[in-house]
Amino acid sequence: MSYPYQITSKEAYQQAYKKSVEDPEGFWSAIAENFQWKKKWDKVLEWRFKGDGAPVVKWFRGGKLNITENCLDRHLNTLGNKPAIIWEPNDPEEHYRVLTYKQLHQKVCTFANVLKNNGVKKGDRVCIYMGMVPELAIAVLACARLGAIHSVIFGGFSAQSIADRIQDGNAECVITCDGAFRGNKTVPLKAVVDDALVQCPGVKRVIVLTRTRTPVSMIKGRDVWWEDEIKKVETMGNPDCPAEEMDAEDPLYILYTSGSTGKPKGVVHTIAGYMIYCTYTFVNVFNYQPGEVYFCTADLGWVTGHSYVVYGPLAAGATSMMFEGIPTYPDAGRFWDIVDKHKVNILYTAPTAIRSLMAHGLDFVKDKDLSSLRVLGSVGEPINVEAWQWYYDYVGKKRCPIVDTWWQTETGGIMITAIATVTEPIPAYATLPLPGIQPAVMDEHGHEITDMETSGNLCMKFPWPGMLRTTWGDHERCFKTYFSAYPGYYFSGDGCLRDKNGNYRITGRVDDVLNVSGHRIGTAEVENAINMHVNVVESAVVGYPHDIKGQGIYAFVITEGNHDNNDDLTKKDILETVSRIIGPIAKPDKIQFVKGLPKTRSGKIMRRILRKIAEGEMHNVGDITTLLNPDIVEDIKKGKV
Ligand code: WT7
Repeated sequence: MSYPYQITSKEAYQQAYKKSVEDPEGFWSAIAENFQWKKKWDKVLEWRFKGDGAPVVKWFRGGKLNITENCLDRHLNTLGNKPAIIWEPNDPEEHYRVLTYKQLHQKVCTFANVLKNNGVKKGDRVCIYMGMVPELAIAVLACARLGAIHSVIFGGFSAQSIADRIQDGNAECVITCDGAFRGNKTVPLKAVVDDALVQCPGVKRVIVLTRTRTPVSMIKGRDVWWEDEIKKVETMGNPDCPAEEMDAEDPLYILYTSGSTGKPKGVVHTIAGYMIYCTYTFVNVFNYQPGEVYFCTADLGWVTGHSYVVYGPLAAGATSMMFEGIPTYPDAGRFWDIVDKHKVNILYTAPTAIRSLMAHGLDFVKDKDLSSLRVLGSVGEPINVEAWQWYYDYVGKKRCPIVDTWWQTETGGIMITAIATVTEPIPAYATLPLPGIQPAVMDEHGHEITDMETSGNLCMKFPWPGMLRTTWGDHERCFKTYFSAYPGYYFSGDGCLRDKNGNYRITGRVDDVLNVSGHRIGTAEVENAINMHVNVVESAVVGYPHDIKGQGIYAFVITEGNHDNNDDLTKKDILETVSRIIGPIAKPDKIQFVKGLPKTRSGKIMRRILRKIAEGEMHNVGDITTLLNPDIVEDIKKGKV
């Protein structure tokens, strides 16, 4: 398999970019021709960012297809015996698994029949809460085979978060594992699901895969074992499962992500545009060559796992590594051992992982054979220059381009990045927009800045096939969050700089959203969770620079009664509350008990001041004369933890 749309020179990039702006429909339809359709589209693009009921975005209207035929069936003749997924377990002593395209196809069909037998049909929502085992990819693809809409929830979320997401999507089926291995820990996934389901009477079926042999409670009439259900399908004979004919714009999945309000939103991606965008960007950004081993370290609980572990690579017929563990178990050489063992050619990981491995020192990397590596990628947050240099020098041995890929859950795929072997990477810059992507930088009055060298808020002025179509069950919210700040534009929530050559440097979120270890967490969500604790009166959460996580979570908390900053028990109780309400990933790194919060006369918390204090900029908190209670600032400064 080769890719007619693969860009191999700077000139070709410029040409593709120009074409994509001048004739977007012609540009994307030529790419769409390389996929398998049951029926071709009638119209390439229909769109409106402004006005009643907007946003309206439809790509490939009238087209019919199934994404799993593109990811699996169409490769069977050419790549049937080639590895689709290589899975490396948490424990390096356990044997790795290889699933060829043929084997993966067959397992997806069998499990799709399991879902069918358990009442799942086209359009149903299926919630998936599993560890990083191959069956997770199989479950996702089996949903897509039937046209069921998957909603994957990261294993670090709590029972309450699962319940919220199940209720929001009205899922009737949940797929989980008894437990998940994570470093030297075992996470009891099924028990967490059980806690969630107390609040979800609508769930009719739970399918449980055996992974850790953690004891579980199986509820009669509701819970069944994955393995038993597979046997039933196999003994019935024909495990084949025809792919449901889907509309180009039918929803493929829902993935929840945090915003500036307390409630996560269900980002909806639809089938055809998303598939084409993931595949196009995968092939180009990483310069993927047929036969290469590609390793994206992301969990399938996040969009990176959806787009660049499963859909993009498989639609391109690539070999995708899937990793169950964590970068530091059994030691900080785990990634490099995997690269050596499987001769990985392309590695795509997050700055937070690089920084944590950097902190463990060079001993874990220096004697590893990393000569198979050809391209390195980074995603999730701005990569700082030190981490970039370390990645470049010690992992890529100064031979491998690093692509710093900027994108978001909402964008479906990579938007601004260097193209490996084609355009020039620049440390700390995401660099240039991919073909099809039209960024705009906005000034404080809401106007697009046309000067090249500038800074402001990052928007998009034209639709691209991978963009979100709505937020599940609440289209108005989609409009308000992304399309109302700058009418006629998609607003990313990020700030950026643009240099004189048109390279973009992303400077981080401009809303009340934190980026902790590459994961998006809303400050309002964390505050809501903290405020649920009985002793808490009020709280304010801000981010601060953290050496490993990028941003850490700093919570200022007013309690009932007297708690001083040495009161570890109360702090632990608050952490436990946040863990219960959102999940361990949202636990504050620092809690400071305060007597009051700096407020304006209208009662709004002045976060700017709290941010300065959390960052340690004590002498530079800015104007405090407009505060209702300016005295509190000195008090808070003294108590800094
Ligand atoms: C936010 C999106 C994209 C998949 C993983 C995160 C930040 C992401 C970069 C980058 C600077 C980046 C942005 C963005 N971000 N990649 N290469 N350089 N910032 O997905 O949870 O939807 O978060 O992550 O702030 O808005 P997400």
